[in-house]
Amino acid sequence: MPSTTAPSTTTPRTYVVTGSASGIGKALTERLRRDGNTVFGVDIRDADITVDLTTEQGRADLVAQAMQKSGGVLDGVVAVAGLAAPIPATVGVNYFGALATLEGLRPLLLKSDAPRAALVASLAAIEPVDDELLAALVANDEPTAIARATAIAGQKLNGASNTIYNSSKRAIALWLRANAPTETWAGASIPLNAIAPGVIATPMIGDALSSAEGRAALDAGAPSPLNGPAAPPEAPANLLAWLVSAENTNTTGQIIFVDGGADSIRRPGLI
Ligand SMILES: NC(=O)c1ccc[n+]([C@@H]2O[C@H](COP(=O)([O-])OP(=O)(O)OC[C@H]3O[C@@H](n4cnc5c(N)ncnc54)[C@H](O)[C@@H]3O)[C@@H](O)[C@H]2O)c1
Repeated sequence: MPSTTAPSTTTPRTYVVTGSASGIGKALTERLRRDGNTVFGVDIRDADITVDLTTEQGRADLVAQAMQKSGGVLDGVVAVAGLAAPIPATVGVNYFGALATLEGLRPLLLKSDAPRAALVASLAAIEPVDDELLAALVANDEPTAIARATAIAGQKLNGASNTIYNSSKRAIALWLRANAPTETWAGASIPLNAIAPGVIATPMIGDALSSAEGRAALDAGAPSPLNGPAAPPEAPANLLAWLVSAENTNTTGQIIFVDGGADSIRRPGLI
């Protein structure tokens, strides 16, 4: 069982990080390993645990392999893997894959004396959603969510917004807020937090960043007065590293924007 006294902040820890092959997940994996920790990277390619998080089989394999490789104990789990394309697989990995990662590996966290969990939402969670898709996601109804995403795939609803991506990120952020303070997480002494990146220079948005028009569109949605647009992946990775470190004893249920100030510009009245 997790202890209630402050754990050592220097003891090497064991983590699972999804999306470890690229971008933010890769930067986080490298940072945690540099700090002397053990990380089992998870991805659809080039990983310690190679699985497809859109499938039931892949999600079950993740839990089985993490159990086998870690000996049944994990100190931290971070769900980073994601897709941005307006396709059904985006809800499969961004929402249901993240949930399967966190819920599936929670029993291994319970064996740690300082367990921590985190996920990656997005500034896109504040953008327009598809109401029908969001309702299916919040209800954890994957067949209905995939059917709705299939119906709207490729369409640009609500102006230029990618409502499949936005809905997946809104839903995972709502899940976090609803679940972090419950018996299951806070009651088990597991801080559970999210980050919400703005524009991060990773392969996910490489196409948009490569043209002046794409960069202008990103800047319009995510104005970044602090240190300019397109932060390096180390910026969100370093925050994630702290959120899942033993030092984080009392922060839970938070969605921390790593966006150079975009959220405070877009939603100035929100506290
Ligand atoms: N880059 C940004 O500007 C930005 C902004 C907000 C949020 N995010 C979020 O950050 C997270 C990381 O994105 P990134 O920018 O590092 O992108 P990325 O494309 O560099 O990395 C995403 C990783 O997820 C993996 N992945 C995708 N589908 C998978 C599947 N079915 N099973 C297993 N692994 C799978 C990919 O293989 C890849 O390694 C995502 O959740 C993304 O939505 C990114």
